[in-house]
Amino acid sequence: MRLDHIAYRVRNRYTTTRFFEEAFGYVIGTEFQIEFDDGSKADCLALVPPEIRHPDTKLWAYHALQAAPYGPIKPEYHAPPEIFISDGSEGSIVGDWVAEKGNVGGIHHMAYQVEDVEAVMNEWKEKGYAEFYTEKPITCKDPDLTQVFTKPSELTGVIYEFINRQGAGFCKDSVKKLMESTAK
Ligand SMILES: [Fe+2]
Repeated sequence: MRLDHIAYRVRNRYTTTRFFEEAFGYVIGTEFQIEFDDGSKADCLALVPPEIRHPDTKLWAYHALQAAPYGPIKPEYHAPPEIFISDGSEGSIVGDWVAEKGNVGGIHHMAYQVEDVEAVMNEWKEKGYAEFYTEKPITCKDPDLTQVFTKPSELTGVIYEFINRQGAGFCKDSVKKLMESTAK
């Protein structure tokens, strides 16, 4: 399990993005707009970190295990998270959330990459770690990814996302479905 991305909802996505560019060295990866059925919109920017993640973390971990002279070691690798920033107009899902948070916004969710999203979801349900917004994970074919949102944790106030994706990039349709799921 590793931190895949941190999602912020803010008042002005460009002002916040400039902060992450200048203070942390992030760069804009992709930018897109989501239009909801009621005509309201959310605008999103996906920022990529200045350091690239290891190209094959699984292979690296396997070699680390094999090469350890005194028995297996716990595989470790540095994998910086992406940052996802969105804003929305008054009356929209994102805009209303930001308004509730003192008109500043904040961290909406933290996404952890896992091998099997549904298995982790079921385990969390069984153990009572969190409730979920949807019955099943939300899937996308292009790019290939699976995601699900918990409801805000009673212990941290944060929504956790579990995600499995092959490469980089977000699925616009999945982001829309996830945002809609939290508005229920
Ligand atoms: Fe996310």
